[in-house]
Amino acid sequence: MHVVTQYRPAHEVSADWLIAGVWENEPFAGAVAELDARMDRQLTRLLERGDVSGKAKETTALYEPRGLAAQRLLLVRFGPRAKAEPAALFTAGAVAARTVTTKAHRRLAFLLPAAGPQLDAEAVAGLIGAGLRHGSEAAGLRKNKPDRFAPDELCLVAAPASGREAIERGARRADIEGRAVSLARELVNLPPCDLFPESFADRARNVSQQTGLECIVLDERDLAAERMNALLAVARGSDRPPRLVVLRYRGRSTGPTLGLVGKGVTFDSGGLSLKTTEQMVDMKCDMAGAAAVLAAMQALAESKTPVNVLGVMALVENLPSGKAMKLGDVLHARNGKTIEVLNTDAEGRLILADALAYAVDQKVDHLVDLATLTGACIVALGMDVAGVMTNDEAWSGRLQAAAKAAGEKLWPLPMDAHYAEMIKSDVADMKNTGGSRWAGAISAAKMLEEFVGATRWAHLDIAGPAWAEKDNAVRSAGGTGFGVRTLIELGRRYE
Ligand code: BES
Ligand code: MN
Ligand code: ZN
Repeated sequence: MHVVTQYRPAHEVSADWLIAGVWENEPFAGAVAELDARMDRQLTRLLERGDVSGKAKETTALYEPRGLAAQRLLLVRFGPRAKAEPAALFTAGAVAARTVTTKAHRRLAFLLPAAGPQLDAEAVAGLIGAGLRHGSEAAGLRKNKPDRFAPDELCLVAAPASGREAIERGARRADIEGRAVSLARELVNLPPCDLFPESFADRARNVSQQTGLECIVLDERDLAAERMNALLAVARGSDRPPRLVVLRYRGRSTGPTLGLVGKGVTFDSGGLSLKTTEQMVDMKCDMAGAAAVLAAMQALAESKTPVNVLGVMALVENLPSGKAMKLGDVLHARNGKTIEVLNTDAEGRLILADALAYAVDQKVDHLVDLATLTGACIVALGMDVAGVMTNDEAWSGRLQAAAKAAGEKLWPLPMDAHYAEMIKSDVADMKNTGGSRWAGAISAAKMLEEFVGATRWAHLDIAGPAWAEKDNAVRSAGGTGFGVRTLIELGRRYE
């Protein structure tokens, strides 16, 4: 599935589906108005009759449209132009692709709308292209009879007179970002019998070789030598040994280093604090943070973005066994702090404690971690929005601006000092739970904060948006690739 471009009048574009976006409450403009004229104003009549109806995410299909080279025409709504945000263009691309990819087609062509003051031509092409890719993908990796079919070609169409350079950059961006998001989704969707710490690390090594990232994999002996006892304690319950993957991308010879840390629990049973079946069914998704880090770094390397990035992926399986860590155990983390384990299902913060301390020791200037960390964050913000918690408001602000440009949703949660009282322990420097039902996402973040020292850091709790329980208008159920495009955008802006 490639994103390509064509510069020609819309009616000349040959495609299985030609897709045109329409702004809400506006007459047709630009290329769509030209199409309408070619079609004896059939589109205007449909609009007047109310057949091209109101809202965003609605589509109208026309088969064998007269006067067009394309076999079918799909109108998709952008919503109101005044509110044209990056997410609206991405969504339109994804909705259109999902509408037509229930059948096998070779080429989808999307008529690019004009750029505006908020969104330049590169962003328009990039967002629509990435959306088309997103909507063309299905989670049914191992179905003998697939129910969705990825087209060979996703074509972005612009008028012959358009400024081509920006559009080409956007198409390339969509191609690279699309591939990265696909990688993250694929890893999340892989079953835990196939994706475990060692196989995840192998995959990271392959990606690194193909894209020119530096890659070091620490095994259990290296981890012991590096004093990562909290991570090792979580891993101990499983027969599968843990791995810590350290990726480095050097996109420039000077300048600061961005550190990205991902939670990579390839299966979270809860350990001795065992989850119920209902809580456990989707817990192969608990490595989505690590997948996002790998995917974003692949994209930054492929696009040769001038930025220096260190990526750390903490990979373990959380299982109960005769060797598993117990409630009441006290762990000595890498930075010397002690942690009392009062719930083995709060394992993410234990592995991140060591991974964050490791990243800090590699001298990064800023940190972002991504983790499917708490059910409490889903209670607070729902399935579509990630929580962001920080020790530096300015840094968090930069992350939130990047997310907005990528069309992904974050919302800040407070980190006032008094929340730290929740993790006070009688026997150790801290305990690994908040001790009550309240503010669970924040008490988890407060524990992570103990391991970043003075480094400017933002934590993304992606427990909600990393995983989709069912299909919707923009994507299939399963891994969503959430965070990948935000990290790529952050890398692009980082200096
Ligand atoms: N991986 C889970 C969090 C999670 C829950 C992710 C639902 C995605 C969907 C995490 O390791 C966990 O089990 N957290 C516990 C923490 C509690 C024991 C303090 C939780 O949220 O219940
Ligand atoms: Mn857990
Ligand atoms: Zn977990």
